[in-house]
Amino acid sequence: MALADKDRIFTNLYGMQDWRLAAAQRRGNWDGTKGILEKGRDWIIEEMKSSGLRGRGGAGFPTGMKWSFMPKQASERPHYLVVNADESEPGTCKDRDIIRHDPQTLIEGCLIAGFAMGAHAGYIYIRGEYYNESVVLEAAIQEAYDAGLIGKNACGSGWDFDLYVHRGAGAYICGEETALIESLEGKKGMPRLKPPFPAAVGLYGCPTTVNNVETIAVVPTILRRGAAWFAGFGRPKNSGTKVFCIQGHVNKPCNVEEEMSIPMRELIERHAGGVRGGWDNLLCVIPGGSSTPLLPKHICDDVLMDFDALREHKSGLGTAGVIVMDKSTDIVRAIARLSRFYKHESCGQCTPCREGMGWVSRMMDRMVEGRADVEEIDVLEEVTRRIEGHTICALADGGVWPVQGLIRHFRPVMEARIAEYKAKHARPSMPMAAE
Ligand SMILES: Cc1cc2nc3c(=O)[nH]c(=O)nc-3n(C[C@H](O)[C@H](O)[C@H](O)COP(=O)(O)O)c2cc1C
Ligand code: SF4
Repeated sequence: MALADKDRIFTNLYGMQDWRLAAAQRRGNWDGTKGILEKGRDWIIEEMKSSGLRGRGGAGFPTGMKWSFMPKQASERPHYLVVNADESEPGTCKDRDIIRHDPQTLIEGCLIAGFAMGAHAGYIYIRGEYYNESVVLEAAIQEAYDAGLIGKNACGSGWDFDLYVHRGAGAYICGEETALIESLEGKKGMPRLKPPFPAAVGLYGCPTTVNNVETIAVVPTILRRGAAWFAGFGRPKNSGTKVFCIQGHVNKPCNVEEEMSIPMRELIERHAGGVRGGWDNLLCVIPGGSSTPLLPKHICDDVLMDFDALREHKSGLGTAGVIVMDKSTDIVRAIARLSRFYKHESCGQCTPCREGMGWVSRMMDRMVEGRADVEEIDVLEEVTRRIEGHTICALADGGVWPVQGLIRHFRPVMEARIAEYKAKHARPSMPMAAE
């Protein structure tokens, strides 16, 4: 059963209607927001916990719990909400559609989330390439101010809430929350070790929560329709609806909001027109944005699209950027391209990431040609294990996981390529010197 239209949170995801405030209000945005705020901070956080919402930015951390880490008592230090609209993970383009077609879902979510964590100010950090989206967002925020929905005494609730848009300059690493905070402060976007977590020491050293665009944008509907409604979709601990971005070798690439835990095959066939050449022409799928290890067809046949099911297969839901590859794909080359991306985006602070990703990328380039020894596949695997978990942030983990997935599932392809190269470049045996 596909998600029914009446259960969609993003009712203008495709931009078929106007994004402006009046149209958004007709779609139900800002309905009863004051009443939600009147229920109080604790009620909102408890309701978010019961909804089971897990962060949509990649790591899947429970949202209600994250908000509860913000200090309860007001102090002289302000609290901040920061919305992560950096959306740099290759294969991901959902936040973009939310911002350009349904921006009031996000703005209303910012007010409610900000109120729940004691923040009078929110910053939306949007990637530099999303220029047009930032223009829409600024205009939508201005409309919300003009209507008294945010700003002083937002929605007549007595709570003051200001919202700012900050454009990044286009670096993948600035999506990592501590790097994002640095960049927002005007510094170089470089991650720092956690703890302390942003809830204790965040923007300008003050308590801060960083959440993804989609995470914040689903909040108002969850609170309007109730935690139980949201928790009714998907499997336990994987609840809700989710925007999936389906691309690659499919007939109709698209973004679609669906129920969590939908089988991958159903997702691709129902919404993206199926795999080019039919399901049997499938080679593999990267299920959750470029960092998540690929899954070969036999797993894709019946895997469910949620955090836990994909983790059981040593991959992940990540950002739900589904990259489909058919049998025409040179899979070694595709993964080598990702290694080059991560090498390029490393901020360079940690030796295993800075040097390691360069080494992995060069090694992968050799694997593409087959210009290697079979034993070097094990060396490559070993090096990825030395990088993983040994750095300040998860960029390096995300950089080596695709390579690990390749070796796990396509080792015979790598070996065959090496054998082919060796056969082609074998030295002709020296003819015996004529007597
Ligand atoms: C290298 C790197 C890049 C990231 N890029 C993004 C991003 O573009 N957007 C995003 O929402 N989260 C990104 N994250 C995750 C954030 O650090 C953070 O976990 C997330 O914004 C939290 O929001 P959520 O709890 O709502 O998912 C990235 C993490 C890493 C390590
Ligand atoms: S893991 Fe890489 S990107 Fe992250 S802090 Fe270290 S060097 Fe920078």
